[in-house]
Amino acid sequence: MKFSRILGVAAALAAASVVAQEAATVTPAPETEAAPVATLEADNTPATWGDAAAGATKAAACAACHGVDGNASDPQYPKLAGQHEQYIARQLAQFKNGGRNNAIMLGFAATLSAQDMRDIGAHFAAQKVLPGVADDTVIAEGPNAGRKFYEVGQKLWRAGDATRGIPACQACHGPTGTGVPGAYPALGGQHAQYTAAQLTAFRGGQVWGQGDQANAVMSGVAAQLTDEEIQALATFAAGLHNVADAPGADAVAEAEAAAAAAAEAAAAEAAPAEGEATEVAPQG
Ligand code: HEC
Ligand code: HEC
Repeated sequence: MKFSRILGVAAALAAASVVAQEAATVTPAPETEAAPVATLEADNTPATWGDAAAGATKAAACAACHGVDGNASDPQYPKLAGQHEQYIARQLAQFKNGGRNNAIMLGFAATLSAQDMRDIGAHFAAQKVLPGVADDTVIAEGPNAGRKFYEVGQKLWRAGDATRGIPACQACHGPTGTGVPGAYPALGGQHAQYTAAQLTAFRGGQVWGQGDQANAVMSGVAAQLTDEEIQALATFAAGLHNVADAPGADAVAEAEAAAAAAAEAAAAEAAPAEGEATEVAPQG
């Protein structure tokens, strides 16, 4: 590709009767062999972007554990609402090919095609995650005594701990836990029990994917976390939510506008306006 384009440019330059020397300075590197494309499964046919409507039908079997709208009510099952399409599709492919080991999910992923995975991903990505509440109990003893439980997680989330080689989670998962589509999963609002279980497994060396599908980043990130930090990170993440994208954002905006109007009216009467409710997990 590159080579032929350079040839094309060279030809164009020659046609435009540019001095030969100029064209000669273009020394195309020999084309390297195309990188081998991993063919994981026979049906791993190229998928197009998911179709959320088709995905809704295909996700019917998932509701028992993950909830109709992806907000699993049982905290041992991850919420899928608001999770990115590509991340969901990647995990389903890993469950299917054994790169992520889970007997239950192997069963549910086994019959899905690559397109099904994208459609289901698009369906859940279009749902809104219902945020949880971060634990603000004050820690009684140990190195973090006197701090609120979620604050231990908040500090690591935002700043990491360079002395122990722990990166800031928000660098990849975002200040409000929304992640980055195509690269990093959303964690905001996720059940703390599930998040803590995964962090513990990552600390123990868990890697999802095999061969060039493997992504070992999290086993490195989690290697130095203490149990308390894992629980604190999990509860902090559960309380995180992207305010603009929170459930009922329209309703909130409307209520805020109404409140502002009421406050103005109240101010006109010199009456004190009511304070806004505070969020447990503030934005970075
Ligand atoms: C019987 C319960 C059950 C059903 C039904 C079920 N799942 Fe799961 N699912 C789980 C469990 C348990 C996990 C966590 C696995 C682990 O710990 O690695 C999981 C994990 C996942 C994950 C990974 C989430 C993440 O954040 O990494 C995805 C994606 C997923 N399931 C999709 C589906 C889809 C799609 C269906 C329907 C086709 C489905 N599941 C049906 C129990 C279930
Ligand atoms: C350098 C980027 C990076 C950093 C920093 C990072 N993560 Fe991750 N994280 C990832 C990637 C990539 C995945 C998905 C891995 C995969 O698909 O195999 C992931 C997955 C996860 C998961 C599993 C999500 C799910 O739905 O199952 C959890 C939990 C998690 N990270 C927590 C954290 C925490 C807590 C921190 C901070 C201590 C952190 N991560 C820092 C890149 C990062």
